[in-house]
Amino acid sequence: MINIIHTKSEMQAEVARWRDAGLSVALVPTMGSLHEGHLSLVQQAALQADRVVVSIYVNPSQFAENEDFDKYPRTLDDDVKKLEKTGQCHAVYAPSSMYDDQHSTMVVPAGAADGLESLTRPHFFTGVATIVLKLFQHVPAHIALFGEKDFQQLSVVRQMTQNLDLQIEIIGAATVRDTHGLAVSSRNHYLSADQLSIAPQLYQQLCIIAQRITQGDAQERVIADAQHALLNAGFDEVDYLEICDAVTLKPAQNNRQGPIRILAAVRLGKTRLIDNIALDQSDTLA
Ligand code: PAF
Repeated sequence: MINIIHTKSEMQAEVARWRDAGLSVALVPTMGSLHEGHLSLVQQAALQADRVVVSIYVNPSQFAENEDFDKYPRTLDDDVKKLEKTGQCHAVYAPSSMYDDQHSTMVVPAGAADGLESLTRPHFFTGVATIVLKLFQHVPAHIALFGEKDFQQLSVVRQMTQNLDLQIEIIGAATVRDTHGLAVSSRNHYLSADQLSIAPQLYQQLCIIAQRITQGDAQERVIADAQHALLNAGFDEVDYLEICDAVTLKPAQNNRQGPIRILAAVRLGKTRLIDNIALDQSDTLA
């Protein structure tokens, strides 16, 4: 049976007991509604640590007023069942709230947080960085795992960990895709059958971009063609489609050096999908 912990003091005490016994601890931060992507993080966490904690908390500070905070699926009982089936999760941390009424301090990241997601969701990384820092205090683990699907989030968390000298190692894990290539995401549940047939074309276009850039085609032409192809395929809007330095997330130059990441956010009806791939699939930042 997985231990379900609701309070900071109990969570910290449990981790302290494990650490005192010489056990290593991994944290997998989530907002619940667990899918294959989360379960693969748990699996990788279990390979790298003796104890695995999955946190489940829908963080209000990373949602803007017009976003889906109220609608976001809350499925704790199902999530715990899925985690129990893995046999690899030792505790679920499910606090009822992470902010008291007097909460007034936020972490405001720049650098990797600039551009891309922040163009349309300027509040987002402040909310993410603040909650992740708090989670690291509540679950003082040795390592924390984040999916590469949210590549900018992973970069922001790495940057914060380094900049603020946090005593935790950040591990990035490859995106899990369905058989059509669509990156697995909690928000895929919002897609209709028609939209589900369009959605995998986002990944296909990212692969075409990577192939053409590798062949030496000019970035501007390749991006313009891919944008056109996405709109033709039925996506309603392309929020961004960019070729970036994989570490700084600044736009990559045509005479690029070092690892490159291609990142995109698109809208399909009311649903916003994000995805990204490495230009060279052998580039992993884990
Ligand atoms: O990726 C998520 O599920 C969330 O942004 C995170 C990292 C759990 C913070 O709320």
